[in-house]
Amino acid sequence: MVHIIDGKEIAKKRKGEIAQQVEVLKKSGITPGLAVVLVGDNQASRTYVRNKQKTCKELGMHSVLIEYAEDLPEEELLGKIDELNQDESIHGILVQLPLPAHISEMKVIEAISPDKDVDGFHPINIGRMMIGQDSFLPCTPYGILVMLKETGINLEGKHVVVVGRSNIVGKPVGQLLLNENATVTYCHSRTKNLEEHTLAADIVIAAVGRAGFIKQEHIKPGAIVIDVGINRNEEGKLCGDVAFEEVKEKAGYITPVPGGVGPMTITMLMDNTLKSARNSLKTLQSTK
Ligand code: GUN
Repeated sequence: MVHIIDGKEIAKKRKGEIAQQVEVLKKSGITPGLAVVLVGDNQASRTYVRNKQKTCKELGMHSVLIEYAEDLPEEELLGKIDELNQDESIHGILVQLPLPAHISEMKVIEAISPDKDVDGFHPINIGRMMIGQDSFLPCTPYGILVMLKETGINLEGKHVVVVGRSNIVGKPVGQLLLNENATVTYCHSRTKNLEEHTLAADIVIAAVGRAGFIKQEHIKPGAIVIDVGINRNEEGKLCGDVAFEEVKEKAGYITPVPGGVGPMTITMLMDNTLKSARNSLKTLQSTK
């Protein structure tokens, strides 16, 4: 029987722990604060941002939303980031992506202080993660790692095949699992004979952004299948990168969409914001 990994439940447990730790931190006079910057009117981004704010409130954190019109000059956004870098009530800064084409995403990411980069997108945090140093981990890969551990899956020596190589998910999730002593293969749109690779995998991570791309014939019996996709099918229904109904008949473990990786991503953002607030308390105490 397949085991459906309940991301919502794992996220709930973790959020409960975070909320408790937020209360402890508040007794020391620090309320973790997250600033979310939204540029333009992308409806999906708007929904994500609303959920982030709602979760902050649920966990007792301070949150601010800064909204700009689509035609915001890049300089103005960089100025705002600078201001948030200096703001002591803000421990995490998240600029929602994608940004309008006239704004350089890399410039914006690099303008965020690595100490407040709760997305884990800054090259300094990515570099730290690569060499196994303490850093902010990108939220989706971090969420996948926590989910696998909470399910009791031992990663050591497991063959992980990551399908997708984005900077936000594919590349970092492979790196994180490598840090856990997994053997990692990356596949992508130019990979030849994808099936040959995925059929050899103990764990398949699907992060391609195409509805139902991973099918039963890609999966070894009993394998663990993690679906990162958030797509809409022809009927407008939310669905992942994995053809869930057919793959669940063959897999040992599978994450659903919705209710799998999604709730973990937002939870790890809260976890990173808490971590940043704690770091700022440590800095305060050491300079006293
Ligand atoms: N857009 C889609 N996912 C993300 C994310 O994790 N962080 C940011 N900043 N933007 C996104």
